[in-house]
Order: sequence, then C-alpha cells, then structure tokens
Amino acid sequence: EFIKDVTGVKVLEQQLKDKLKLDHVVVVPGDSDQLDWVKHEMGRACVQYLKGHLAAGEAIAITGGTTMAAVAGAMTPLTGADRCLFVPARGGLGERVENQANTICAEMAKKARGEYRLLYVPDPLSEESYQTIIEEPSIKEVLDIIRNAEIVIHGVGDALTMAERRKTSAKQLEIIKERQAVGEAFGYYFNTKGEIVHKVRTVGLQLEDLKHARHVITVAGGHTKAQAIASYFQPGQSNVLITDEGAAQELIREH
Ligand code: F6P
Repeated sequence: EFIKDVTGVKVLEQQLKDKLKLDHVVVVPGDSDQLDWVKHEMGRACVQYLKGHLAAGEAIAITGGTTMAAVAGAMTPLTGADRCLFVPARGGLGERVENQANTICAEMAKKARGEYRLLYVPDPLSEESYQTIIEEPSIKEVLDIIRNAEIVIHGVGDALTMAERRKTSAKQLEIIKERQAVGEAFGYYFNTKGEIVHKVRTVGLQLEDLKHARHVITVAGGHTKAQAIASYFQPGQSNVLITDEGAAQELIREH
C-alpha cells in the first residue's frame, strides 16, 4: 500500500536526506518497478529541480538508461537558462541505441531548446585505441566539456541486471559476480561497501570529476534498486537524489 498524503512523502524525504547525507531528496509516490508512470514522475521531478538550479550557458552531462530516457521525455524548454549545453557523460557502455547517453542527450537538448555535443567512440575500447582516441582534437574538446560540466544527471542500476543488459563478456561478468558487485553507475560497479570492483573502459566522465560539478543529480527508483542505490551512495558521490517510494521505503528499512 503506497502513501497517498504529502506528509508521508515528506517524512520519507527527510529520513533519506539524513541517512544518505544529501542536500536534497525528492520521493515520488509509487514504485517504478510496478508502474511505468512512476518513472515518468521521477523524470518530471528531475526537470523541475534542474530548472531551479541551472544558469545560462552551463553544461549538463547525462547518462543513459530508461530512467534518463524518462527525464528526456519530461523535458520542456529551459527558458530561464539560455545556451545550455547537453553532453553524454560517457561512451555507449554497451547499451542498445535507445538506452545510450548520446541518443537521450540529443532528445533532451531538443526538448529543452538547448545545444548538444555528442561522443562518437567505439565501445568497448581497447587500451591502445583508448590512448589514441583521447588525443583526437574533436574528442578532446567534448571530453573537456563533459569533465567540467556544472550539472551531472545520471541513473543507477543493479549490477547484474546492468552487466547482462550490456554486451559484457563472460570473463568480465565472472569478475562482477565474484567480487559481489551490487550497484552500477557511469560504468563503475560497486560492492555493498561502495568500493569500485569493476569499471567499463570508455571515454568520458570519471568518478573523480563529480567533485567539480555543482550539482550531481541521481535519478533512480524501484524497490529492486535499493541495494544498488545504497552502494553508490556509500562514498557519497551525489548531493541530490530523485527516487520513488518503492526504493525509499526499502532504503530506510534495509540499508
Ligand atoms: O548504462 C547507463 C545507465 O545510466 C547505467 O549507469 C545505469 O545503471 C543504468 O543506465 C540505469 O538504467 P535504467 O534507468 O534503465 O534502470
């Protein structure tokens, strides 16, 4: 049974804020694992937060996934912030086209009436290609924007779900299982202690770049993601969480 009154949601928000030591938490009613429109509500909440915190000419780096696609779906013109620039946070990460940051970034920018730049890199990348590609001037320019973005908006996923959804090799899948990864964000896999146990090699944002962003907004919900969200927040990478009641209740209970 889900909360129907605003006070209940506000209590959950405050509890999560204290527990995960965040500046801002939004909990939308329902569980996105059960109802699709809940994801759309998280998207709307994210757009609303963005509108209140974005200034003209700023760069917004975004990741892929169905939750970020819902953010793009909910985007409306960012009239208060001209010339804002959308960029994908990292390479494709093995996701199918509709779940890739590039695709979502272009859609989001169009709906926001902003600009966008994309990352064209093969994925996954060998070590030699990686070294050559990051020296390519056109790539370098976009990477620079990404790594210095003022705002980062990203999803979080369950480690095994993500490893299976991507074209993860059997060898890497074995590592992910063996090291007991539970959460994933930006191509980094975390265990319950929040330690990085595996990382997908691709260009783009590195976890340490998050320090430079003014706002790092995590958008993730559904009760099945509670453990993944908890693992990602162990080292405290973000300052804003937009989630749903399904994940919030589970997070308060278990983690
Ligand atoms: O692959 C991009 C990504 O943002 C991952 O980092 C994250 O784990 C996943 O997508 C979330 O996907 P979804 O919103 O579909 O659960």
